Amino acid sequence: MSFRNYKDKIEEGDTVILYLSNNLYALDVQREIKNKKGEMIENVYQTPFGALKVKTLIGADYGTKIELTKGWGHVLQPTPELWSLTLPHRTQIIYTPDISMILLQLDLVPGCVVVEAGTGSGSLTHALIRRVRPHGHVYTFDFHEHRAKIAQEEFKDHGLADFVTAKHRDVLAEGFDKDLNGKADAVFLDLPSPWLGVPHALAAIKEEGGRFCSFSPCIEQVQRTCLALQEHGFQEITTMEVLQSEIKVSRRTVPVRDLSFLKQKSSISPVEEKPSSETSYVVGALPQSNPGHTGYLTVATLPPVYVRGKSKKDDDNISSENGEKMVVDENV
Ligand SMILES: C[S@@+](CC[C@H](N)C(=O)[O-])C[C@H]1O[C@@H](n2cnc3c(N)ncnc32)[C@H](O)[C@@H]1O
Repeated sequence: MSFRNYKDKIEEGDTVILYLSNNLYALDVQREIKNKKGEMIENVYQTPFGALKVKTLIGADYGTKIELTKGWGHVLQPTPELWSLTLPHRTQIIYTPDISMILLQLDLVPGCVVVEAGTGSGSLTHALIRRVRPHGHVYTFDFHEHRAKIAQEEFKDHGLADFVTAKHRDVLAEGFDKDLNGKADAVFLDLPSPWLGVPHALAAIKEEGGRFCSFSPCIEQVQRTCLALQEHGFQEITTMEVLQSEIKVSRRTVPVRDLSFLKQKSSISPVEEKPSSETSYVVGALPQSNPGHTGYLTVATLPPVYVRGKSKKDDDNISSENGEKMVVDENV
C-alpha cells in the first residue's frame, strides 16, 4: 500500500525502493517467499552489497539507512518516478521526461477522467493515477490478457485500485467501453496504430471537449495519426520530441592563464608571461552523451461539440502551412 499515501513506517506488504550506490531496486516487503519447490522460506534479498533479510525492514522508518555485509543503502517510499526506474518490464515503457510532458499536454488535474491504451507495464498509468486522484479516475486497456491481469493485480497491491480500472480489451477492434462515451477529459494512446484509435478517442471525450496525446517511436505513425486527428475535427495538432539533458553542477579545477602581461606596452618594457595557475570553480557541465530518441508525442485538442462541425470545415480548407492538402504515402 506504500504508493497510496506518504507514511513513516514500513509495513509488511509494502513495495519499497532500495537505493544502493546509485542503483535502485523495487522490493516487496514479505517475511516469506516460495522457493522453486513451492515451499515457504525466509525472504532474503540478494544485493551487490550482500544479503538483506527483508523482515528486518518491517517497522523501520522510510528513508532509513540499512547496513549490509559489504556496504549500506537506503530504503525509500516508491513514487511513480522511482517505479518507472525499477518496475518489472513486460513491455517497452514510457519514462519520466515524456511522462511529465504528457501530463502537462493532457491538461490533467485532480478530478479528471483519463482513458489510456495500452497499459503495458503500467509505467505511465502510475503517474496518471497520482495526477488525477483522489476524485478522478484512470481507465486503462490492454489487449494482452496476461499483461492486463498483472497490471490489475499490481494496482491493487499498490493500494491504487480505487483510482484505476484496468481491463483486457482490444480497443482498436472494439473501442473503449460504451459506458465511457462522452466521459473522458483526455485520451492517451501508446499503440502501434494510434491513428485507428482516433475515432474511439473522439467518442470517449466529453462534449465540452478535451485533449488527446499519442506516443509513437516512428514518424510514419505520427503522420497517419495527425491526418486522422485532422479528419476527425481535432485542432492544435502538434508533434514534439522530449530530449532531457541534465546539467551536472560540480567543482572543477582548471588552469587559468595570467594575461596581465598584455597590459604592458611591449616596446617600452617587455614583460614575461607568468605560468598558468590552477583555480577551482563551480561549473555546470553538459552531459558526456546526448539522450537518444524514444518517441514522438502528438497532441491535439478536441473542441467543444457546438464548434466541432465548424472547425472541421475550416480544417478542410486550411490543411497545411503552405495551403496544400496533407497526404501520407500509403506505401510507407
Ligand atoms: C508499449 S506498450 C505500453 C507501455 C506503457 N505506456 C507503459 O508506459 O508502461 C504497448 C501496449 O499496447 C498494447 N496494445 C497493442 N495494441 C492494442 C490494442 N489494439 N488494444 C489494446 N492494447 C493494445 C500491447 O499489448 C502493449 O502492452
